[in-house]
Amino acid sequence: MSCLTKAKPGAYLVCNGYKDADYVALALSARAMGLNAIIVLEMEEELDIVIEQSNKLGIEPVIGVRAKLLTKIPGHFGSTAGKHGKFGLLAEKIYEVAEKLKEIGKLHWLKLLHFHVGSMIPTTEIVYNAASEAAGIYCELVNKYGAEMATLDCGGGLGIDYDGTRSGSSDMSVAYGLEQYASSIVQAVRLKCEYNDVPHPVLCTESGRAMVSHHSMIILEALSAIPEPQDEDTPEQLLGKIQDLSSKQPRAAVSGAAGMYSHAADLKKHGIEMYKLAKKLSKRVAGDANTIYNYHMNLSVFSLVPDFWGIGQLFPMMPVSRLDEKPTLMGTLVDITCDSDGKIEKFIGGGETLPLHPLDPELGGYYVAALLSGAYQEALACKHNLFSGPTLVRVKSTGSDGAFEIVSVELGPTAEEVIGTMRYNVEEDISSVIEELAKKTEVWATVEPLMTKGLTTMPYLNEYKPPKTT
Ligand SMILES: Cc1ncc(COP(=O)(O)O)c(C=O)c1O
Repeated sequence: MSCLTKAKPGAYLVCNGYKDADYVALALSARAMGLNAIIVLEMEEELDIVIEQSNKLGIEPVIGVRAKLLTKIPGHFGSTAGKHGKFGLLAEKIYEVAEKLKEIGKLHWLKLLHFHVGSMIPTTEIVYNAASEAAGIYCELVNKYGAEMATLDCGGGLGIDYDGTRSGSSDMSVAYGLEQYASSIVQAVRLKCEYNDVPHPVLCTESGRAMVSHHSMIILEALSAIPEPQDEDTPEQLLGKIQDLSSKQPRAAVSGAAGMYSHAADLKKHGIEMYKLAKKLSKRVAGDANTIYNYHMNLSVFSLVPDFWGIGQLFPMMPVSRLDEKPTLMGTLVDITCDSDGKIEKFIGGGETLPLHPLDPELGGYYVAALLSGAYQEALACKHNLFSGPTLVRVKSTGSDGAFEIVSVELGPTAEEVIGTMRYNVEEDISSVIEELAKKTEVWATVEPLMTKGLTTMPYLNEYKPPKTT
């Protein structure tokens, strides 16, 4: 619907995702309204809905099909790709769709083939293989089934090198840049099409992460910096515990699938225990060399960097205050929620601390930024602990020398708004009840401004002067 308000006449509007009759009817109407809306089938059954709605509305659709490719990406983002992926049709099923369209004399509807192998494709080899596999299906549709194909939509997946290693060896890194990504697709498709004597398709992509990541950063305000107490165990004691645990490896598997599974589960539990102890040891050793400071931040990890908490995504982080001064402390970031997971103690490069400055209120507030957060941290903000999303400051570059102007500032949701989404009637359930009680106890004059301010400002701390770090 948003596209119906903004797109220029003739603009591509690729309609993917699962669809019901209303969705299809709206997509067909978009065609009638002048957009080049293409309905991409994610399941065979959707074809019947398209035929039915097209007959009902008298609007001819343009159809695409999403291919479920065998090319897979490793790691977290590949878990819904490949043969067992959630979305799309395997090649044989795509050919069945073409057959069905041919039978009803509507093969000319089919114009686009789409694939999306997952986010953060780590290497150009996988980009190439996926494009080549899809181009093979595209050529088959043209040569064997006679489809009038025009477009190959290569989905998303163009990655961001969050950790800067250009290695592609983890979910945080990709081993290529934009040029190499584009050239891998173009070469794979060109080769396949020329080999099969099929005209080159129009290529399009649906890059999301790569389009938006660089467009936002989350700026966090420090509230205090407190030295972290050392673990009671000495490094020697921790080492002893690790050695002891290591000598108690779970016994070998009993035979059979259930036995193997239970053995694997024991190994996992044992491994996690070892990992926790080793982490404690590493922290203890680091703490012996350098006091670690817990920086309490005006932050909810769950609302402001949800992917850090949810999928272990690391974002490049750095102070954005006092950049002309060398940071002298090593700090972890702790949030103000009541949840023990609300802390950041893992950073790009494998470190458990970030170099930070001692706080000094005389020098103003102290801020730390999580960079490359445009996909999609503020959009994912949840209401965990009723903290909710950030204040959005839109900034526009005004020159190549780093100059900028602030275009707008939109405060994040107020406490009243967040509480309202929990199905409280703020007036009836909260304000009037507090008012009645405060009047009865004759403290309303004090309570009223506090209550009003509390409800009409964001749930984060609003005016807080951090103490000087000693
Ligand atoms: C069909 C489809 N296209 C494009 C994208 C965007 O992917 P990315 O952000 O990795 O470019 C997604 C993301 O899930 C998707 O499901």
